[in-house]
Amino acid sequence: MEMPDELRLPMPDVPATSSSPLPRRGCSYGAGAFEIVGAGPLFGEVTIGGGKNAALPILAAAILASEPVWIRNIPALADVAMLLKVLNELGIAAYSGGDGTLCLETRDSRPVTASSGLIRKMRAGVCVLGPLLARRGRAEIPLPGGCAIGDRPIDLHLSGLQRMGATFFSRNGVVVAEARRLRGAVVSLRGPRGTSVTGTANLLMAATLAEGTTTLLHAAKEPEIVDLGRFLIAMGAKIEGLGSSTLRVRGGKRLAGCDYAILPDRIEAATFLLAGAITRGRVRAVGARSLHLTAILENLTKAGVSCEADDRGVTVGTSGPLRPVSVAAAPYPEVPTDIQAMWTALMSLSSGKSLVRDRVFPDRFGHVSELRRLGANITRTKRGASIHGPARLSGAEVVTTDLRAGAALVLAGLAAEGRTRILGIEQLDRGYELLDEKLAILGASIRRVSVAPF
Ligand code: UD1
Repeated sequence: MEMPDELRLPMPDVPATSSSPLPRRGCSYGAGAFEIVGAGPLFGEVTIGGGKNAALPILAAAILASEPVWIRNIPALADVAMLLKVLNELGIAAYSGGDGTLCLETRDSRPVTASSGLIRKMRAGVCVLGPLLARRGRAEIPLPGGCAIGDRPIDLHLSGLQRMGATFFSRNGVVVAEARRLRGAVVSLRGPRGTSVTGTANLLMAATLAEGTTTLLHAAKEPEIVDLGRFLIAMGAKIEGLGSSTLRVRGGKRLAGCDYAILPDRIEAATFLLAGAITRGRVRAVGARSLHLTAILENLTKAGVSCEADDRGVTVGTSGPLRPVSVAAAPYPEVPTDIQAMWTALMSLSSGKSLVRDRVFPDRFGHVSELRRLGANITRTKRGASIHGPARLSGAEVVTTDLRAGAALVLAGLAAEGRTRILGIEQLDRGYELLDEKLAILGASIRRVSVAPF
């Protein structure tokens, strides 16, 4: 695979700099706030970028390849920039091929230590564990801590790799894993809350270079796992069962290079569709795949939102009152946990009572108190949130502690009267590319402002 020298660029710092492969189109990261003035319905089209939760494991999978891999449609996100920095420490060079395309190649296959502490900030950094162990026989990664959305252990990752022959010990908060060569095994990913998405990704990647066949039971069925599987297959991996809860992987000795485009981000798509619904506008998410949004579109329809889908995207429109619809977030194909906070914001404007639960992260309700500041009538229950609508939302200063809670506050701000100031938007930059600019294209009054440090 050709790799012109002139494309060699430095790896991005965090926050990314203008000379790094990412971000593109002048996006800037960093601390600050969004100021939103509720300005009525949003109208128009917005193009959906590459999926964050597919891009992260796919970039990590570059560790497995013996040749350069070209990856297209990579979203310009702070999480992606951070993972590229981790990969850089691990001897993987990235070259920009222009607009969202990177070529990754191993320039030094010795490093096994992800030392930067970035993994502690970015949970998906744990995805380097399986590939490092499979390709280099050893991995040392900082233990990811708990986070704002609740307890996030990695026991399923570790026990799965252990079944494949890895040994582990922990030293000064660092997990050290060793395996001369992983061997195929039957591994169950069944945890107390169902399966694990990044756990499935880690084991799937590790199994491609293991000796013999690995069967993953209770594997995640998320489209991002299917995308990762297709990427691995493009590199020569032998995988069966993608999209089902049983995956079978015949391990090999090496994986080749490939050229692969990441799928569109279903959570970003849902965010813009919900922005259309909550402002009683009409929004088209270009590139969105309706198949990946089935549960969300079904619930939007129940709520009285009209949804149309074709090969090129999904459109929602709202005119009448919103009806209350209770949801319980659960693994794919159910309503994603990453939508739960935004659904809560939407339901605060519906005429009646609805309940929202989260079976994946039962404590992921940090947004409730902030939505209340904007006037939403929500109470925390033992099992989730109880919402009484319709509320008359009005602007206020609110703080986000996690990515999707921040998206819920943005939606509420768009529907609120007056000015809403959302602090902590570095959380949003982790997972949304140009969120403010895309919303502005739809007619939102939103601007990024800097916030004086305390
Ligand atoms: C991924 C997504 C995240 C999404 C989540 C659930 C990425 C980069 N992130 O996170 O956006 O919200 O899936 O769809 O893809 N668990 C265990 N043991 C483990 C691992 C997880 O008990 O070893 C539990 C967790 O506490 C949680 C549930 O399983 O209750 C699901 O977690 P998991 O699917 O692992 O989330 P992530 O992969 O981290």
